[in-house]
Amino acid sequence: MSISVVILAAGKGSRMKSTTPKVLHEISGKSMLFHAIDAAQEVSSDITIVLYHQAKRIQEQVEAEYSNIHFHLQDAEKYPGTGGAMKGVTTQNERTLILNGDMPLITKDSLLALTAGDAEINMSVIKLDDPSGYGRVIIQDEKVQEIVEQKDCNEDQLQTKTVNAGIYAVNTALLEKYIPRLDNNNAQEEYYLTDIIKMAVDEGKTVHPVYVEEEEFKGVNSKFDLSAAEEIMQRRIKTFWMHSGVTMRLPETIYIDSRATFEGECMLENGVSIQGASHIIASHIKTHSIIEDSHIENSDVGPIGRIRPNTKLVDTHIGNFVEVKKSTLTGVKAGHLAYIGDATIDEGTNIGAGMITCNYDGKNKHQTKIGKNVFIGSDTQIIAPVTIDDNVIIAAGTTVNKNVEKGSLVISRIEMKTVKDFFYKFFDK
Ligand code: UD1
Ligand code: MG
Repeated sequence: MSISVVILAAGKGSRMKSTTPKVLHEISGKSMLFHAIDAAQEVSSDITIVLYHQAKRIQEQVEAEYSNIHFHLQDAEKYPGTGGAMKGVTTQNERTLILNGDMPLITKDSLLALTAGDAEINMSVIKLDDPSGYGRVIIQDEKVQEIVEQKDCNEDQLQTKTVNAGIYAVNTALLEKYIPRLDNNNAQEEYYLTDIIKMAVDEGKTVHPVYVEEEEFKGVNSKFDLSAAEEIMQRRIKTFWMHSGVTMRLPETIYIDSRATFEGECMLENGVSIQGASHIIASHIKTHSIIEDSHIENSDVGPIGRIRPNTKLVDTHIGNFVEVKKSTLTGVKAGHLAYIGDATIDEGTNIGAGMITCNYDGKNKHQTKIGKNVFIGSDTQIIAPVTIDDNVIIAAGTTVNKNVEKGSLVISRIEMKTVKDFFYKFFDK
């Protein structure tokens, strides 16, 4: 059956105590809203996001990443609440799945379970030991009768431990009929989407409860919730990659972005952080190294290596305290203490300890090109833009500020002087 999705994301999210809209806070490198959109795209191609607070900022971010998403601006002054959010929303398909933008842990399988069956409405419910804060779901004979918000509950209703997880799959025609009928006669004077349940039941329609895992439906309302969701997401991501063949030493100390991918046999030691859409192929990333948005193939990095965005390492060895940025290294060895930025370095080249590409002149970034089989001594500065051809030796301590021809030795050093017995004279000993 074809289905449309509406993601509610107009709420203010004041408990986040942040100037960033709640749904733009990130879990594993991707905003909560993007996690929700990705799950929604697995089941539908008609997706509408309802916005109000900081609508422009959120819409711009979504449009930079996705096409074909519809937006609806809630009239939140006049019609506050989850029901108000649905006023004026139109969807294209027979069924409409309504999600919250602050539930980043939802999976495709749960969304599919919610759209199965032929009840007019499926709604997500969870049994909780502590139901406080949630709308209570009144169920009789396995059919939902109504949802009562905590603030509107009587003493009996407050004891109900089955609560509304906040996701519904509704027959679109019914939704279009009930939304205009919602009122705000309740404790919060808001338009409650949850009131459509009673309307459906009163008309003899079936509302089916779908029991769901609490973990997936946890709403993120505070920075504490954000950290809890991050932990769950990290556990899922690492479990997936370990099952795909990535070895992880002490996985609880490792961070992996939701967009990162691995291929072949990879090993991640403790404390490693793989950020952005990094792609790691058959490589070994050693203790406390950071890889950001880079391609690492058949290489080893670290311990304590830092590979910054847009780097490509192939058949390369990067050792401790080496930083590489926006560079392509093929068949290179850089074992210790170096900064390589905006460079292309070719096969068989060895980078000594303390080599630095001086890529920035205070105004612009410049390129360094180093050819094959170049031996670069320790403590050298390569002032870009510069090209060093194949088979070159750069002596330790050299400052390279002109292009170097194939086969040359380059040395720039002031001659060493020795003053005999100077120590004894100077200190009068
Ligand atoms: C809602 C449910 C409650 C359920 C809980 C589950 C209602 C009336 N209550 O309560 O039964 O147990 O979710 O988490 O629906 N939003 C808008 N516009 C608004 C208000 C909210 O788009 O005017 C969006 C929010 O951004 C959020 C979602 O709707 O994504 C839920 O809003 P929230 O205020 O968190 O609802 P709850 O009070 O938690
Ligand atoms: Mg909520």
